Amino acid sequence: DKAGYKHFMAKEIAEQPTVLQGALAHYINADGTAVTLPEPGIDFTQIERLTLVACGTAYYACMVAKYWFEQIARLPVEIDVASEFRYREPPVTPGTVALFVSQSGETADTLAALRYMEGKADKILSVVNVPESSIARESDLALPILAGTEIGVASTKAFTCQLTTLAILALKAAQARGHMDEDALAEKLAGLRALPGIMNLALQIESRTDQLATKLAEARDILFLGRGAMYPLAHEGALKLKEISYIHAEAYASGELKHGPIALVDKHVPVIVMAPRDALFDKTISNMQEVMARGGKVLLITDAEGAKEAGEGVWETILMPEIDPFLAPILYALPAQLLAYHTAVAKGTDVDQPRNLAKSVTVE
Ligand code: M6R
Repeated sequence: DKAGYKHFMAKEIAEQPTVLQGALAHYINADGTAVTLPEPGIDFTQIERLTLVACGTAYYACMVAKYWFEQIARLPVEIDVASEFRYREPPVTPGTVALFVSQSGETADTLAALRYMEGKADKILSVVNVPESSIARESDLALPILAGTEIGVASTKAFTCQLTTLAILALKAAQARGHMDEDALAEKLAGLRALPGIMNLALQIESRTDQLATKLAEARDILFLGRGAMYPLAHEGALKLKEISYIHAEAYASGELKHGPIALVDKHVPVIVMAPRDALFDKTISNMQEVMARGGKVLLITDAEGAKEAGEGVWETILMPEIDPFLAPILYALPAQLLAYHTAVAKGTDVDQPRNLAKSVTVE
C-alpha cells in the first residue's frame, strides 16, 4: 500500500527517518553509550582485513564504508562488485573477514561471492534487509538493516539503513581497536541518534528538487561529482537517475575530472556537485570552479555556509542542513534520491518498475 503516495519510491524516501530510528534503536543501547550487536558479535581486534562485496546500490554503501573503516578504525578494507570478485581469484590471507551487503539477500553474484569465501575467510558477515534470505542464512552473522519491505526497484531506504548499520559497525571497530575512546564513541552515537530529525529537516528540500527536476529532465547527460566519502554518493546519484529517468548520468571523483571527462562539459551538461562542508570542501569547490570556467552548469548541494563560501556563478543550489561530515554520506542520499525521483516523474517514466530491471537479480 502506497499510504497516499504516488509511488512506492516516494513513500520509501519519506519513511527513511522512521525506519532509521528503528535501526538505531536496535544497534545502540538505551543510554546511547554502546553498540549492541547480535550474538556471537564480532571481535574486531582479531581482524587484519575486511573484504566488502555487493552489487549496485549496496556496493556504493560498501564504498562509503571503506572510508569509515579505514579512517576511524584503521582497518584495511578491500571492496569489489560481486560480479567480478571471484573471477579475480583473490588470495585470502589469515585474519580476513568478508562482509556481504544485500537488500534482498538473494542477489546471485553476491551469493556466489559469499560461497567463494566459505572456508577461506575467518568469518562471513552479512548486512541484509531480509533475515530469512539465502545470504543471511549462509553467513556466520547476519546483521539486519531493518528498513522494512522495499518495493520500488530503485533502492532508497535500504541504502540509508545499510549505511547506518555499516557506520555503527565502523564505530564499534574503532572502539575495539583502540582508536576511539568512550566519550568520542558516545558523541558519534548521539550524532547518529539525531540523524532522523535532521533527515526530516532535509526532506524539506523536496519542493526544490521538484522545481529543478523540470530542468534536469531536459538534459541528455548529467555528471555527478564528489570527493572522499561523497564520491560513492555521486555514484549513487548517477545510478538512481539512470535507473528511473533513463538520462545518461556518470559519477566522477571531483579531482579526476581534469584527467579526461572535463572534455564533456559544456552548457548543455548539468554537473551536480555534492559538497558538504567537510575537510575536502575547498578542493571540491575548486574542481567545481574548473567546471564553471568551461561553461558547465553547476547544481551545488551543500549547506548555507558552504553556498556562501562557494561564491557566485553557480547555476542552482540545494541547501542542506549542517551535518557532521562523518554522517554526510547518509544525509546526502536524500537529494540524490529526490532529484532522480522528481526527474523521472517529470519525464513520465515508470518510477517503481523501470524498464529492463528487476527488484532482485537472481541470475549471474
Ligand atoms: O538486493 P541487493 O541489495 O543485493 O541488490 C543489489 C542491486 O541489484 C541493487 O542495489 C540495484 O542496484 C538497485 N536497483 C539500485 O537502485
